[in-house]
Amino acid sequence: MDFKILLKQPVQNQVFIIDEEAKISQLHGITESETAFANTCFANDQTLITFNRYGYFHFVFLVRTKKTNSQTCESIRKYGADLQGICNKYKLTDIIVNNLTATANAAILLAEGLALANYQFLKYRTNAKKITHSLHTVYFTKNSATLKEVNQLSITIDAIYKARTLVNEPLCFLSAEQLATEIAALGKEAGFKVTIFNKARLEKEKMGGILSVNRGSIQPPTFTIMEYIPKKAINKKPIVLVGKGVVYDTGGLSLKPTLNSMDRMKSDMSGAALVSCAMYAIAKMQLPLHIVALVPATDNRPGENAYVPGDVVTMASGATVEVLNTDAEGRMLLGDALHWAKRYKPELVADFATLTGAASVAVGEHGIVCMGTADDQTKHAFRESGFRQYERLVEYPLWDEYGDQIKSDIADIKNTGGSSGGAITAGKFLEHFIDYPWMHFDIAGVSFATAKKGYTPIGGTAYGMRMLLDFLIHYGRA
Ligand code: BES
Ligand code: MN
Ligand code: ZN
Repeated sequence: MDFKILLKQPVQNQVFIIDEEAKISQLHGITESETAFANTCFANDQTLITFNRYGYFHFVFLVRTKKTNSQTCESIRKYGADLQGICNKYKLTDIIVNNLTATANAAILLAEGLALANYQFLKYRTNAKKITHSLHTVYFTKNSATLKEVNQLSITIDAIYKARTLVNEPLCFLSAEQLATEIAALGKEAGFKVTIFNKARLEKEKMGGILSVNRGSIQPPTFTIMEYIPKKAINKKPIVLVGKGVVYDTGGLSLKPTLNSMDRMKSDMSGAALVSCAMYAIAKMQLPLHIVALVPATDNRPGENAYVPGDVVTMASGATVEVLNTDAEGRMLLGDALHWAKRYKPELVADFATLTGAASVAVGEHGIVCMGTADDQTKHAFRESGFRQYERLVEYPLWDEYGDQIKSDIADIKNTGGSSGGAITAGKFLEHFIDYPWMHFDIAGVSFATAKKGYTPIGGTAYGMRMLLDFLIHYGRA
């Protein structure tokens, strides 16, 4: 699917964004009775008004200021989604966004909501042609957006569409090897280096965490390394991104209960989709940052040779892990990947993982649980990006006491920490494998939508992508 966002205007469908009701009179060709009609609508709390010009449409969108700037911006994105629905209802193919407000990025925000909402996953529909949305292009009037903003938005949307599609692909297509192949294609298209380790190489590197999760599987694991080196990097040491790539999570021998709990487990590689498509965006935007991304991947199944509760696994770092629940598999993969990241002497590592149901229970679908050892300035920058993009962060503590919960009787650590503080004990497990500034993002609650909400369609959301790209775009330019 291809969504175009450009800076010229060949069509007549147009949305005018205003921030004062009186600005309605500035609209070219608007009649007195139309102005009166619009004012009645605004007085009745209506925000988006449609004028059918018989041949084309004009829409007027009144921005209403909310309690915080972050909320006002989000409301503009949401109305973008509403407008997307209306455009497709009337079978419009193009629309021009015209910003008449004092908010410089209002047009970009509206287009963002519109584009995010317009995503469809139609690969497996035999009636795809018939149900494809008519809308495919957004234009901006000259003063409504800069070329840089338009390029950035266009690439971001492209990356989000790609990540959502990877998440939506079921296991019967997206095995660990296929995921690696897809990542190689992203690298080729955007211009970053991709190296794929196969099972033999994982054995050579003694990646016991990934290999033990893979033992119950009938398909081999992979470890994919991406690297983007710009001509002039502003960071001396690389930033490393890590994404959990469990292409399907049955729980393994600690099998998940069948009733519903496995329905969305094809999405357990959302972290992998997020970081690999972020690499695509980073390379396409040519950000001046040296960035590496790592994706450990396998499915988690209860096959004949599966690892069992009670097993002791030696990780790539040499640390031993007593496995008490084979469903706590994500941390086994991430432990090896985080250890691998040490070789880059990174200035920052950020991992994204659908790691715990506990994170999802704690904050639901309205934010990401994060924790880490990065400095306050970095954490602050992440938090700000979260508010700007409305992909908000809630920081949890990594207090020592939580570490006590994963002490093992027979090995260095165990892979579960009991029922309390589950998102944090998972974080404490990961902390065991780092020696650099690090942030962990648990996206279990936000990565997959079971109902359409605003600009988020059902399925993979790519939630966190805009936050991460916003952070990287602003990185080192405080
Ligand atoms: N992939 C799951 C976490 C998850 C749950 C993601 C629900 C999305 C929605 C993860 O591998 C898992 O099973 N975690 C266990 C850990 C537990 C056994 C310590 C969990 O959260 O129950
Ligand atoms: Mn699991
Ligand atoms: Zn999992």
